[in-house]
Amino acid sequence: MTTDHDKILIVDFGSQVTQLIARRVREEGVYCEIVPFTKATEAFAETRPKGVILSGGPESVTTEASPRTPQVVFDSGVPVFGICYGQQTMAAQLGGEVEGGHHAEFGRAEIEILAECALFKGVWHVGEHYPVWMSHGDRVTKLPDGFTTVAISKNAPFAAVADEARKFYAVQFHPEVAHTPHGALLIRNFVRDIAGCSGDWTMGAYREESIAKIREQVGTERVICGLSGGVDSAVAAVLIHEAIGDQLTCVFVDHGLLRQGEAEEVVRLFRDHYNIPLVHVQAQEMFLSALEGVSDPEVKRKTIGRLFIDVFETESKKIGGAAFLAQGTLYPDVIESVSFTGGPSVTIKSHHNVGGLPERMNMKLVEPLRELFKDEVRVLGRELGLPDGFVGRHPFPGPGLAIRCPGTITTEKLDALRKADAIYLEEIRKAGLYDTIWQAFAVILPVKTVGVMGDGRTYDHVCALRAVTSVDGMTADFYPFDMAFLGRVATRIINEVKGINRVTYDITSKPPGTIEWE
Ligand code: XMP
Repeated sequence: MTTDHDKILIVDFGSQVTQLIARRVREEGVYCEIVPFTKATEAFAETRPKGVILSGGPESVTTEASPRTPQVVFDSGVPVFGICYGQQTMAAQLGGEVEGGHHAEFGRAEIEILAECALFKGVWHVGEHYPVWMSHGDRVTKLPDGFTTVAISKNAPFAAVADEARKFYAVQFHPEVAHTPHGALLIRNFVRDIAGCSGDWTMGAYREESIAKIREQVGTERVICGLSGGVDSAVAAVLIHEAIGDQLTCVFVDHGLLRQGEAEEVVRLFRDHYNIPLVHVQAQEMFLSALEGVSDPEVKRKTIGRLFIDVFETESKKIGGAAFLAQGTLYPDVIESVSFTGGPSVTIKSHHNVGGLPERMNMKLVEPLRELFKDEVRVLGRELGLPDGFVGRHPFPGPGLAIRCPGTITTEKLDALRKADAIYLEEIRKAGLYDTIWQAFAVILPVKTVGVMGDGRTYDHVCALRAVTSVDGMTADFYPFDMAFLGRVATRIINEVKGINRVTYDITSKPPGTIEWE
């Protein structure tokens, strides 16, 4: 679908922030893909990019067998921008030298601009100092032929270097992070001016191209799409409906683990507003009885995932067989990040809506959002006319309230959780904080504590409140509410929700915590 657009290829050397490079590039209206360095040669040949960005990474080019950029990238004549480890592989491969250890710079640093450079055009001026974010142990000590130093910092004599003739640029700092305030503008200079990408990759274009691609893929077959109540599946469904009309049937499974008013809202939006064929499956009994007595988070997730597939199979048969299953899979779920831990990366949680389908379903996948980040999906949703309130909704996990109810799940606990959650979100909206917070929800704990209400003793559950800010859910900070707000929410929950007599606030960031409790 993106074959007609200019592309940037990002070679991943395992940095924690490689995705941020992609986001900065896409903010410029330029399509890009991230590829692990191990597959960069094939990806370079396939995508024929107009420019290549080399990411940072945890390795040291001074060690044997450390990763390298495919030589073809440097030989092909396309502009190259190396960041941190990317700078070091460039130096090492093009005839310079890199020294290991003892040169660490972590966090904020200041650079001084020594010479003009296409990367700095209109942003940084010779003789001035600017803040940047550094995170490196090694440093370049001798430049390859053709390069000159265009900026220095205290610990990096080659903080930024350039070979204008070959359009090779490299920086020791990280322009992709927010802590380098002008970093996005440098990336803009690289992709728009230096690599010459036109910036025509808009969501309007994406919509048109997706529709054509879906029509081609699906032909006259039937598609079913699982709606979770979240933004991604809703956007995928509306887009597919635009492409193939009533060949699409949406299935919304009420597993009894939805939030207050959620089912009604989804049904209203799809059936009444969009007029999209929607099967509303009432499967509360099926899910809740299978989860009875289950307290292990992975068993909960797997049970819910398995039942979802069962329900889909049944519904697909009912509509006379669907050849395709649509999913709202996003780009962060499909990026194959480099793992230096030696083996496959550890499964923290089994997300039930990610990955292939069990063989037995014998269905092909339609995943029109596979190339998009969450915020791009929101833009696409608005483009498709989804109401703002729906598009801006906080993410909600497929396993629903099951993973916000640590320990065993009971209908009493779920009822209390739903009410507490609704009060919490109502107060967040009232305070005008909903859009500032990335995700907020209540959790009901499998702990009972003693309280006193009126003249009586209570012995009820504890409710924990969670709110985080985040860019994409990969990392997150807890939200610093003021105490008066938290006090107000706690008072309302304890007074209005039967079964909860204590409220706590979760002040864990991710990492080391995860956003959800299970
Ligand atoms: P964690 O808890 O892993 O969550 O920090 C990161 C983001 O992913 C959401 N999440 C899920 N979404 N299916 C989903 O659709 C799942 O199984 C799932 N588990 C977590 C979570 O709500 C947060 O936004």
